Amino acid sequence: MDISGSLEKPDIKILGNTLMSQIHLHEQYGGVYPNLAKREHEKNLPPLLQQTLKEAGYILTDDQQLTNNNIDVIAVTNGPGLEPALWVGINFALELGKKWDKPVIPVNHMEGHIFSVLYESKDALVLPALALLVSGGHTELVLVKDFGNYKIIGQTRDDAVGEAFDKVARMLGLSYPGGPKVSKFAELSRQRKKIDDIKFPRPMIHSKNLDFSFSGLKTAVLYKIKEANRTDPHYTRDFGEVSDIFKEDIARAFEDAAIEVLIEKTRRALLESKEKIKTLIVAGGVSANTHLSREISKIVDELPDIRLHIPIKSLATDNALMIGIAAFIKTSKTHRINKNQEEIKAQGNLSIS
Ligand code: KG4
Ligand code: ZN
Repeated sequence: MDISGSLEKPDIKILGNTLMSQIHLHEQYGGVYPNLAKREHEKNLPPLLQQTLKEAGYILTDDQQLTNNNIDVIAVTNGPGLEPALWVGINFALELGKKWDKPVIPVNHMEGHIFSVLYESKDALVLPALALLVSGGHTELVLVKDFGNYKIIGQTRDDAVGEAFDKVARMLGLSYPGGPKVSKFAELSRQRKKIDDIKFPRPMIHSKNLDFSFSGLKTAVLYKIKEANRTDPHYTRDFGEVSDIFKEDIARAFEDAAIEVLIEKTRRALLESKEKIKTLIVAGGVSANTHLSREISKIVDELPDIRLHIPIKSLATDNALMIGIAAFIKTSKTHRINKNQEEIKAQGNLSIS
């Protein structure tokens, strides 16, 4: 495919789809705890596979063979992510590949996020596209020239934006993952319409490059909470416990700042790129954020030639379907599946470009 091509919406029919969240187990640690994640993956994958195959109408015999063996390929993500957890998935997939005599193909987790938008899209993905990938581990602007041809043109220098949401949530006493909770609080503050004077810095908003930084913003939030605990009786309850109104205002001021930087850099990337960008993709867990999608649609109103793709909510945060979709495009584009199993290794920092 050339640079002015497009990726057709794949013809997908979901036979079975299951997801097991470990969020409640990680809540107490305020984030994902690697060893626990690994153990839980090992425990959950076999019953999850059973359940998915059952949903899809397959029957697994006692020696783990399929009665209807019409599967072409098994897809698994090899990174980026937590290596111990990635290895569990890879080893599981390789074992199945051996048992069922099927090739296993690796898929980049971020590639999965990009193509998650094709699931319920009515249109083909017109290329080249700009992808704003926002998750708990990543904040990057990626030029998507074709499937497999990506260039990172901007990225965070410290925390990812989802990580900043999670950390601010923790400061406000909200449990992991904090993104959706901070967002809900921020919306409540906006609904009150009485906008107070809390305003946080917009890190790197005027820098010439397309990079981001969120760790200073997080620290600014921390100082504001500490200061209010000490000095502001309007906001604080007994014994320095901050009130819900204060939490909501903090959440709104933080979200305003974080999203404004994402929007400004994305707008600039669209306007300044030498490629004729036709599509904007916003994907990754934070793409479920209401304020982000509201502000992103304003950019698209300003630039009517740009088509916007955002995944449906259930495909915004990590899921297996997006890995399957990316694998489907990968195999149909190369028109062949490598029969000689390539070596698959977990790569915690696997880059997309
Ligand atoms: O892509 P994802 O599921 O996992 C990673 O690859 O990291 O993204 C998870 C991140 C978490 O930091 C979570 O707090 C954030 O996405 N998130 C949100 C929202 N929903 C999930 N952040 C802000 N607003 C949301 N509505
Ligand atoms: Zn993700």
